Amino acid sequence: MGSIVLKNICKSYNGDLACSDINLTVKDGEFFTFLGPSGCGKTTILRLIAGFIFPDEGTIHLADQEVTSLDAEKRKIGMVFQNYALFPFMTVRQNIEYGLKVQKRAAAEIREKLRYQLEMIGLGGLENRKVNELSGGEQQRVALARSLVVEPRVLLLDEPLSNLDARLRDRMRNELKLLQKKLGITTIFVTHDQREALTMSDRIAVFDHGRCVQVDTPEGIYSRPATSFVAGFVGDTNLLEVNRKDGYWYMENRIRLNADLKPDTRYISIRPQDINISHSAAGSTDHGLIGRIEFREFNGISTDYSIVSGGIRFKTSALNTTLSTGAFEPGDEVTITFTNGSIHELQQ
Ligand SMILES: Nc1ncnc2c1ncn2[C@@H]1O[C@H](COP(=O)(O)OP(=O)(O)OP(=O)(O)O)[C@@H](O)[C@H]1O
Ligand SMILES: [Mg+2]
Repeated sequence: MGSIVLKNICKSYNGDLACSDINLTVKDGEFFTFLGPSGCGKTTILRLIAGFIFPDEGTIHLADQEVTSLDAEKRKIGMVFQNYALFPFMTVRQNIEYGLKVQKRAAAEIREKLRYQLEMIGLGGLENRKVNELSGGEQQRVALARSLVVEPRVLLLDEPLSNLDARLRDRMRNELKLLQKKLGITTIFVTHDQREALTMSDRIAVFDHGRCVQVDTPEGIYSRPATSFVAGFVGDTNLLEVNRKDGYWYMENRIRLNADLKPDTRYISIRPQDINISHSAAGSTDHGLIGRIEFREFNGISTDYSIVSGGIRFKTSALNTTLSTGAFEPGDEVTITFTNGSIHELQQ
C-alpha cells in the first residue's frame, strides 16, 4: 500500500492561489479526511495527488517514490470524483471492468475480479444494467467498485456521499469504512460535512482559503481547535472575542471573565453543552450569569437554547433524559453557568 507525503505544495489557476504551502503526511492504511468549506482547495489537492494536474511548487511522494510529475495512470491511485464520472451509457460491468481492460489484464482475471467486486458492493445481478438506470446510491457503489478493482495503493474519494439521502448515506458510510479497513487502503476522503469527518476519520486536515490550518484526530480537532475558524467550523460553539482592560479580561467588551487567559488570547470558545442552565442562583461556580431565554429548539436527543445575557447571545445544549427536570420557556429568566475548564483559548 502506500503513504502520501506532500511538501510545500502550491498551485494557482491563472494567478489565483487554489492552495499554498501544503505540508501533509498521510500514513499507510490511514483513513484521512480533508474538511473545509466550498472553494478551499480540497479537490485541487486530490487532483494533484492523483496526477491530473501538477503543482507549481513542492513535491509529492507515494510510498517513498517521488511522483510529482508522473502521469496519473502510472500512480496506482483509485479516485471517485465529486460527480462519480461513471460512463453513463455503459453497463455496470463495463464500468467496473474498464480499468482492468486498459491495463490489458487476462479475461479470466477480469471475470474473477468483476465477480468479487459485484459481491462486495451488493449489486450482483445488476451487472448488465446501464448505470444511468441505477439509483444514486447504486451508482455510488459502482464508482467505488470501479476505483477498487484495479487494487490501488491509494484511494481518493471526493465527496462520494454528498448526493445520497440520509439513510443511504449512513449505510454507505459504514460500508466504506469497513471496506477500507478490510483492504487496508490508504484513503483520503473529502467532505464539507463535519459530522461525517468526525465519525469516519483516523485523522482530519482542516482547510481554509487554500491553506491547511490544522491536522489532528477527530477528538483533537473538536476539543483542541487551533484557530477560531476551526472552532466555528467543527461543531457548534460560542465563539467570543476577548480583550484585557485594567487588569481584567472581558468577553465582547461587555462581560468580565473570572479567568486569567494567556496574554495573546483573542477569542474564547465554549461548547454549548458546557454551559449549564437553571432557574436557581449560580452557587459556587467560576461563572454565573443571569439571562433571558430567546428561543429553544427541540432536537430529540437534546434541547438547544439561545440565551441573551449582558448583551451577549449564548448557545446552550442540554441532553433530554427521562430524568430531565423539564423545559425552560422563551422569556424565562435563567442562570447560565460554566467553569474555566470549559473555556478554550484561541490566539487567532
Ligand atoms: N480548473 C480551474 N480553473 C480555475 N480555477 C479553478 C479551477 N479549479 C478550481 N479552481 C479554483 O480554485 C479554488 C479551489 O477549488 P477546489 O475545486 O479545489 O475547491 P473545493 O475545496 O474542492 O470546493 P468544493 O467543496 O466546492 O468542491 C476555487 O477558488 C476554484 O474556483
Ligand atoms: Mg471539490
